[in-house]
Amino acid sequence: MERFITPKQLEEDRFQEKGIRPQSMQEYIGQTKTIEKLDIFMKAAKLRGEALDHVLLYGPPGLGKTTLSAIIANEMEAGIKITSGPAIERPGDLAAILTSLKPRDILFIDEIHRLSRQVEEVLYPAMEDFAIDIVIGKGPGARSVRLDLPKFTLVGATTRAGQLSAPLRDRFGVICRLQLYETEELARIIERSASILSIPIDEPATLEMARRSRGTPRIVNRLLKRVRDYAQVKGTGLVTRDVAKEALDMLEIDAIGLDAVDRRLLASMIENFDGGPVGLETLAASTGEETATIEDVYEPYLMQIGFLQRTPRGRVVTNKARLHLGYLAVEDSQQMQFNIEETSNDGRKV
Ligand code: ADE
Repeated sequence: MERFITPKQLEEDRFQEKGIRPQSMQEYIGQTKTIEKLDIFMKAAKLRGEALDHVLLYGPPGLGKTTLSAIIANEMEAGIKITSGPAIERPGDLAAILTSLKPRDILFIDEIHRLSRQVEEVLYPAMEDFAIDIVIGKGPGARSVRLDLPKFTLVGATTRAGQLSAPLRDRFGVICRLQLYETEELARIIERSASILSIPIDEPATLEMARRSRGTPRIVNRLLKRVRDYAQVKGTGLVTRDVAKEALDMLEIDAIGLDAVDRRLLASMIENFDGGPVGLETLAASTGEETATIEDVYEPYLMQIGFLQRTPRGRVVTNKARLHLGYLAVEDSQQMQFNIEETSNDGRKV
């Protein structure tokens, strides 16, 4: 079963996200650096009457890469075609998409790191020279014909920029790294979504939910629906902090957004591996999760809140996590902090 707090898009999200997706840069909350950069490059491209340079968006799932690409199309007053790496199986599939584009259109390819090598090779000349080479005929009589394409903008999205081949990465003129959202930003997103969906909610409730949404707008919007249900059945319909807290406690999402799976992962590291360092493969085997899921889904948030560190020798659980999970008493952690401060650089007590 999918975790309730998965940042992956679920079928029910697709329906819900449609109505509450921001349509313009003004409506978009957070990712200020990316927005500022894109805004300047888009204005410049528009002034010159050109297509925007190719854009790579990378970062953990659920942060609004598709939303952002739709906003880019809106702002550029251009059309958009949305597809994904795994959906483009053969070079011919990509050629068909590329030849259907109009000048300045946006082609959004999600999970672009999953394109096959053959398909990727069609993309190189398309991105660089706005042309594709098509082979006509078979055997000794086969010949290659170059077909010009309109000047389009490729927006590629990936959760793992490191897996992109260098030639593909180098062909993006604008590279934007999306960050997990801050609590205040998520609270504003909830406020906005609640207003669109006519859900009565007070400010302490938006902050409580924001703190439990692991930095991810998709999760915050999903939680909002479940909390609304709870408020209607158990309360008066108004979402207050207490209602939000009770509903999320019921869903086993704790005060900082960890669910049972996160807690099990951390507990297993502490109990079986002394808190680490633990190799990614070992962690995957001991939790029954795929390495990619651990890297893309669990770790970004656990690292952001300072519960997990990636070191060259493996993953390490921090004392902050031990404290949260009850493996360490507050006095122990204060004493440890004191010892660290009282110790000189060469390790001797001063
Ligand atoms: N809904 C989902 N992501 C959003 C964002 N970044 N800004 C506003 N509304 C959103």
